[in-house]
Amino acid sequence: MNKIPYGRQNIDQNDIDAVVLTLQSDYLTQGPKVKEFEVKFAEYVGAKYAVAVNNATSGLHLSVLALNLYKGDRVITTPITFAASANCIRYAGAEVWFADIDPDTYLLDINSVKELIESKPKGFFKGIIPVDFAGLPVNMEEFRALADMHNLWIIEDACHAPGGFFTDSKSEKNFCGNGNYSDIGVFSFHPVKHIACGEGGMLTTNSKELYDKLMLLRTHGITKENMDENHGNWYYEMIELGFNYRLTDFQSALGITQLAKNKKGVDRRNEIAETYEKAFDGKIKFQDLPNGTYNAHHLFIIEVENRKELYDFLHSNGILAQIHYVPVHTMPYYKSIGYSEADLRNAEKYYSKCISLPMYPALSNEEQNFVIEQVNHFVNG
Ligand SMILES: Cc1ncc(COP(=O)(O)O)c(C=O)c1O
Repeated sequence: MNKIPYGRQNIDQNDIDAVVLTLQSDYLTQGPKVKEFEVKFAEYVGAKYAVAVNNATSGLHLSVLALNLYKGDRVITTPITFAASANCIRYAGAEVWFADIDPDTYLLDINSVKELIESKPKGFFKGIIPVDFAGLPVNMEEFRALADMHNLWIIEDACHAPGGFFTDSKSEKNFCGNGNYSDIGVFSFHPVKHIACGEGGMLTTNSKELYDKLMLLRTHGITKENMDENHGNWYYEMIELGFNYRLTDFQSALGITQLAKNKKGVDRRNEIAETYEKAFDGKIKFQDLPNGTYNAHHLFIIEVENRKELYDFLHSNGILAQIHYVPVHTMPYYKSIGYSEADLRNAEKYYSKCISLPMYPALSNEEQNFVIEQVNHFVNG
């Protein structure tokens, strides 16, 4: 049997044809495909606006800038995420404050966030960045209520969760990044994610003001609207210090065909998760699923006591399991700026046991059965 990765892109002829067609067109970047991808993505998640970017890290950077994060400000996030969720705060010169995770859902624990906020004077924090970790949607309605009490903004890091949803108190389904309860949603199109563009990302929002700001910052802070002067048709003005964080047209063409398959992909991921859950139920701990929540299952994570041994055992059998994540506050960079003292017991306990098993739509039943067999063999001896 070939090696089985923990995650893998799903590219078919339809994707390849779409990219080739765009390469043969007049536009390689800033053509019609970027807009089409933005419109279709916004519609898919149920947000008013979407802004395509060259990766989610750039998208997180633009998001904190659009929400006026400055040097010395403070933002709360989770330690169990990819470093980019926290790094964007540092890009703005602001301080990262980590709250703990829930030991069963592995998501940022709202009670830990509340405690942290209440332990500080009013106005101490500027915002919160919860992460729909592993594809499990955060209950953003609860976070919004807390954020509103303390005048905080919310950036939803939905990189793991296009197609996931939670059900709010009005019994309405809220797809990750729909902007009903958060200010900006951020998605990644790295190949191990649901939608692969090579590199790529998308920002979603319901605020016209934030949309305009994100569009401006994405392209150098350049505009042709409401200019101080106008020397002719060529003239433009740079009114903010922006960036070039644009996505190309051929990546957008790929994003469009990938997006069209996402629902099917998420459904297949859920089928795979159910098979794992049935096999491990009562024997091995896995991520909890709150009522009314649909996990987009970027990852399927289990917890075991002798995680390193299981990791080595699976790898020696061709199963390339992975660890998500080394807690961000324990990274040498964060330690060097004083985070080694953070008391995040659930996150550290989780890290000592977690391991991600293969999870991607093209994983065959035969391959999954082999993974289950190997895990059971290891756990049961
Ligand atoms: C939760 C989370 N946020 C942000 C990112 C950054 O995404 P990108 O690689 O598109 O910059 C990732 C990527 O791994 C991620 O997993």
